[in-house]
Amino acid sequence: MKRKKVSIIGAGHVGASTAQLLAHSGICDVVLFDVVEGMPQGKALDLSEACPLWNSASTVTGTNDYADTAGSDVIVVTAGIARKPGMSRDDLLKTNAEIVGAVGKGITAASPNGVIIAVTNPMDVMAHLLYKTTGFPHHRVMGMGGVLDAARFSTFVAWELNVAPGAVNSVILGGHGDQMVPMPRFTTVGGVPVTELIPPDRINALVERTRSGGAEIVSLLKTGSAYYAPAASTFQMVKAIIFDEKRPLPAACYLTGQYGVSGLYAGVPAILGAAGVERIIELKLNKHEHEEFTRSAGAVASLVKILNL
Ligand code: APR
Repeated sequence: MKRKKVSIIGAGHVGASTAQLLAHSGICDVVLFDVVEGMPQGKALDLSEACPLWNSASTVTGTNDYADTAGSDVIVVTAGIARKPGMSRDDLLKTNAEIVGAVGKGITAASPNGVIIAVTNPMDVMAHLLYKTTGFPHHRVMGMGGVLDAARFSTFVAWELNVAPGAVNSVILGGHGDQMVPMPRFTTVGGVPVTELIPPDRINALVERTRSGGAEIVSLLKTGSAYYAPAASTFQMVKAIIFDEKRPLPAACYLTGQYGVSGLYAGVPAILGAAGVERIIELKLNKHEHEEFTRSAGAVASLVKILNL
């Protein structure tokens, strides 16, 4: 079987870390694209030289030319600027929209049949922008945010209960912003909802820490934003697509009436496979959860409106 080709647009912290995970696992060939000359080539060469040590047959190529990304099965978009302390993801809107708009054109010409994963923030809006600029069907354009937010919530729940982080199954809905909606009622450990394991005030504290999880790291790093967990989250999504896993993962998907929202990207549980977003799972929300989801989607909609998408 021919190895799949995954191109990563933006060879910065998140892009290069994702490339490392993909090359290390040997599950695909990787192309690292960036506008900075020499940098993606240098990182690709470094990663290539690690492949013998990882016993990986992946090829890793660095480039400044979209032609080298041609025919990609998956395209991961991390191009843009990252947050500095005091900035919200939304503060990145205009700068990153210009960058991601250009990226969308490059992708369309090179890989008209690929599946796109938007990572650049504000992510839900960038997914929408890529959907519009590429003209791809919406099931082939999704955003990475929910897997990361869920991983953060799982981490904090695991610390609280002293259980293995991987044993926590977290569900988070809504936009990948300050109004994301962690769903304790649907978050389980060994099949038991955390609402039965952790008192409400502690759950609220874990929810709040998750909501500001990205900002907590930005304030510690001072020069940029998180990249190890974002890369690990992106890796999970790429894997689900290239192996046609039909795996339920939270993703920013284009909604066409699900959860009462139409014509907008927001985070929902979805089945990811070779076709991209193959199905959206609709959870039965209570009134409060539904209101929170609607508010979070509204925050995404107001940014989409600024860009006139
Ligand atoms: N095309 C391709 N790459 C570009 C372009 C462009 N038009 N413009 C900028 N880039 C590249 C930069 O040269 C840089 O190498 O995007 C890369 C971004 O990398 P970092 O600055 O290290 O940012 P990173 O931490 O990887 O975050 C990237 O992901 O998680 C989000 O909020 C984060 O929006 C940010 C994005």
